[in-house]
Amino acid sequence: MRRVEDLASKETRLVIGLMSGTSCDGIDASLVRITGSGLETRVQEIGFVSLPYEKSFRERLLQLAQGKSGGSEELLMVSIRLGELFVLSAKKVCDESDTAYSSVTLIGSHGHTLYHLPQGRQYFASEVRGSLQVGEPSLLAEAFSCAVVSDFRVRDMAAGGQGAPLVPYTDFLLFRDKEKSVALLNLGGIGNITILAKDCSQEEVIAFDTGPGNMVIDAFAYRYSKGRSYFDADGEMARQGVVSSTFLAWMEDLDDYLKVPPPKTTGRERYGQEYVDMLEKRREELMIAPFDLLATVTEYTALCVLRGLERFAKGMPARLIVSGGGSHNLTLLTSLKSLLQGTEVLTQEDLGYNSDSKEAVAFAILANEAVCGKTNTLVAATGAIHPVVMGKILL
Ligand SMILES: Nc1ncnc2c1ncn2[C@@H]1O[C@H](COP(=O)(O)OP(=O)(O)O)[C@@H](O)[C@H]1O
Ligand SMILES: [Mg+2]
Repeated sequence: MRRVEDLASKETRLVIGLMSGTSCDGIDASLVRITGSGLETRVQEIGFVSLPYEKSFRERLLQLAQGKSGGSEELLMVSIRLGELFVLSAKKVCDESDTAYSSVTLIGSHGHTLYHLPQGRQYFASEVRGSLQVGEPSLLAEAFSCAVVSDFRVRDMAAGGQGAPLVPYTDFLLFRDKEKSVALLNLGGIGNITILAKDCSQEEVIAFDTGPGNMVIDAFAYRYSKGRSYFDADGEMARQGVVSSTFLAWMEDLDDYLKVPPPKTTGRERYGQEYVDMLEKRREELMIAPFDLLATVTEYTALCVLRGLERFAKGMPARLIVSGGGSHNLTLLTSLKSLLQGTEVLTQEDLGYNSDSKEAVAFAILANEAVCGKTNTLVAATGAIHPVVMGKILL
């Protein structure tokens, strides 16, 4: 019989973190050794793998993310299928680092978000807010015979928060700096930033979604490559285009999200297919070349980061550390560097970490906090009325 107290009392824990992000590109799995908890947390990365989804499954996930397709039968199907794929990725990261499955102490699994509803919507007599992550965690518990923490977001939402962003908490644990201000930018489907002022406290952390990360770029890369490519590899297509300043200004003008003060989060409901179709229509009216539009939407991702910092950070950070798939887009990185004069722009790789593993590592840490009974939210980031211990624990 396992007890949560036994997990908490271990000196170090071997933890797997699992994440499937809004890009629907696949599952990221990190294997880490965690010592301590809270402000004493120390993390050593042991292994990382990404398991890409097959094309037809990815397309189905993207459709389901629109919220309108799929019924209860398909919800069950997709949850079990994803649960199996989470098991496969967890096994793969162990295999590749010669780690026995039985030595894993704990798994933190974010699951895959099918629908995120931070603002209330009327449903019968209720004002519904919530977040639906699927990928049945029981399958992981069975395959590894270890504790599994999952379904993190809803606990924060029950306390009035947006259930996102969650990574700023782990950014604070790992990256706070006594000497200088640091911002951490993760470029997944959406861009999220965590701003850690010099020697800041938890209460002083500022974090929010900046706007689109790769989501809009991916959609146009797919369209203009006629379905051959899901993303603009290394930013090569955008590099061949020229930014249209008229189009860029028009995009900024119509984007109310940028002006909303944090806490705030966004997703496919704002920058998804409908948004992309609207941009494409406008491009045709203005007769802008496809690659020029790709260059423009790439610049726009960087511009959203600049605007977010200008409006909501207390001064520009000394250093910006970029992670996530978007950190491989060299055109996007170049734009960030030229817009953020005076800030040292680095990738996680530049610091000896892996740019792709950050979110998976974060869920390993959040799970570690949960079993140690530590609150693992930053109310400054999620807007909740008090900090909570997120995650449902399977023993
Ligand atoms: N070599 C690359 N060049 C440009 N973009 C890339 C590259 N590799 C990955 N990406 C981008 O990163 C995205 C996946 O990033 P990821 O951090 O996994 O996001 P999410 O958390 O939303 O799944 C891809 O959809 C793609 O846009
Ligand atoms: Mg991903």
